[in-house]
Amino acid sequence: MNTTIPKLPFIIKPFLLSLLLSLTVLIFIALQTPHHRKTTPQQPDSTISSKSGGGLRIRPGYSSYDEYIQRQLNKTLNPKLRQIWTTRDWERKVRVFAQFFESLKRRNLLLNSSKALSIGARVGQEVAALKSIGVNDSIGIDLAPYPPLVVKGDFHAQPFMNGTFDFEFSNVFDHALYPWKFVGEIERTLKPGGVCAIHVALSRRADKYSANDLYSVGPLVELFKDSKLVEVRKVDGFGLDTEVVFRKNKRRNI
Ligand SMILES: C[S@@+](CC[C@H](N)C(=O)[O-])C[C@H]1O[C@@H](n2cnc3c(N)ncnc32)[C@H](O)[C@@H]1O
Repeated sequence: MNTTIPKLPFIIKPFLLSLLLSLTVLIFIALQTPHHRKTTPQQPDSTISSKSGGGLRIRPGYSSYDEYIQRQLNKTLNPKLRQIWTTRDWERKVRVFAQFFESLKRRNLLLNSSKALSIGARVGQEVAALKSIGVNDSIGIDLAPYPPLVVKGDFHAQPFMNGTFDFEFSNVFDHALYPWKFVGEIERTLKPGGVCAIHVALSRRADKYSANDLYSVGPLVELFKDSKLVEVRKVDGFGLDTEVVFRKNKRRNI
């Protein structure tokens, strides 16, 4: 069999070589770029990268704050889902939340005497759980109220005075369009020395109603400017895999 390569005109050879070289360089650069950290042209500030690893990406696509709120409410106010959350799902979710809170109590991060807030509590299963283990002075906030457990409130501008709570819990960090406001409001409404426990998903992407994607604990630690990281541990919390606990500084430290 004749395997000789056909002769190319002398001008094409260097051209093909430089084309091949440019392609190799381009592929190499593309492989080096971490895609989840790319900012979009519409939102140049939508990615907060962290000194300590992966970043935090704000999802593009909301044309206004109203649109973001409406999208969140679409699911939260769905009558069929509310029926399921308050009946079939109720006991199981209260039980699992109670286990998380019991564990925080064992580690002295939550007390029966704590004044507690659950952020993005929807129909209030986590508030019921707090009360069921003896943390009686507990309340939740959500965009839609569910009295008496949940009052109306946007977590970007909590409806509470500075230094109100000893303990705050949330498993909705991924729903924050402005994560720095979400955290800023927690630090504002916590008492000095107060504790905040947050459940996040690091190893899988959150749902389609999420407004941001978090890739490591680093950006959270950087957002909690007036707190110390107490611990990070793996949990199995309704699709969220990591519990991150902070304690607000006793003296202002920014
Ligand atoms: C995934 S659900 C979690 C509900 C509840 N924590 C649970 O585990 O059952 C997210 C919740 O966050 C609420 N939410 C979204 N954006 C919010 C905002 N800006 N302020 C307050 N709540 C918000 C939604 O209304 C929804 O109830």
